[in-house]
Amino acid sequence: MAEPLRVLVTGAAGQIAYSLLYSVAKGDVFGPNQPIILVLLDIQPMLGVLEGVVMEMMDCALPLLREVIPSVNEMEAFKDVDVAMLVGAMPRREGMERKDLLAANVKIFKSMGNAIDTQAKKNIKVVVVGNPANTNAYICKKYAPSINPANFTALTRLDQNRAQAQIAAKLGVSNSSVKNCVIWGNHSSTQYPDVNQAVVDLNGKSMPVREAVKDDNWLNNDFIKTVQQRGAAVIKARKLSSAMSAAKAIVDHVRDWWNGVPDGTYVSMAVPSDGSYNIEEGLIYSFPVRTKPDHTYEIVKGLTINDFSREKMDATEKELSEEKNMALSVCES
Ligand code: NAI
Repeated sequence: MAEPLRVLVTGAAGQIAYSLLYSVAKGDVFGPNQPIILVLLDIQPMLGVLEGVVMEMMDCALPLLREVIPSVNEMEAFKDVDVAMLVGAMPRREGMERKDLLAANVKIFKSMGNAIDTQAKKNIKVVVVGNPANTNAYICKKYAPSINPANFTALTRLDQNRAQAQIAAKLGVSNSSVKNCVIWGNHSSTQYPDVNQAVVDLNGKSMPVREAVKDDNWLNNDFIKTVQQRGAAVIKARKLSSAMSAAKAIVDHVRDWWNGVPDGTYVSMAVPSDGSYNIEEGLIYSFPVRTKPDHTYEIVKGLTINDFSREKMDATEKELSEEKNMALSVCES
């Protein structure tokens, strides 16, 4: 059997981690032949809860799980890590402005960037989930200059899954029949869910989603709004933010990054822009990417962008660029 992979989950005492850890430890991400050492990082006041999570992980008696290491020490937790799922972040409190939340969280991700730079394996793969996810990933990457920037990503797979599920429900087909929905930009309400390249298997035939749905008004309005606002709708209903679906999306993101996706399909990941589609270089922007079995990916180039899409892609880029400038001024002050 392979050497164990060292997988770090931050925010390990939180609600997303509670749904995520079992999936990772039982092989849903790295497969049934890959043993895992799980490192669980949270903050000191959560140590008691973290210990309870460790007990439960142990009690699952999972064959692939070699060790579970709880930690409240960032530098120790990042030591020799192969894959980091950065879920932990400060939650938004009542009366807190978006910029206050951003300031608090980018400081956390600056410090994690330093820890990655000095402690982790040089080929570490990072997915940032804690919000504002794209900008946190940008800061993390900036403060880990010895690591390949392409190894820093942020989660927009939940948005992709939401888009795919809306289309599948509209057409009355299974979720797996819908492919190549794209999320462009920020994991925020400015994101642009785009179905212009999406295809669906309908009655044994593959066809463009637009042709199958036959309702451009719905696709250009309600569909986009539903996906953009889905996180807020879940909070309103549950009084808590998405956790089960977020954990499932993290599993999808890392599994596809690790293993690659079939030819002709792609997935959305927020990754450092290389200037494709005229998006500011370096921003962590969600693009369609083709992942490969050697754990690398490439941004899918050459998709046709119409005026409607261009406007929406630019609006979300503008928000990310502003967030980046705000984050840099916090980190450099
Ligand atoms: P939660 O509040 O239940 O858990 C967060 C955990 O992070 C807490 O245990 C907290 O103590 C810990 N934490 C805070 N600062 C930390 C630090 N410096 N180091 C390590 N741990 C730290 O929150 P939940 O529901 O698990 O969500 C986590 C984050 O994920 C939030 O920022 C949320 O907005 C974001 N999120 C992102 C999604 C995406 O698609 N990108 C989807 C859903 C949530």
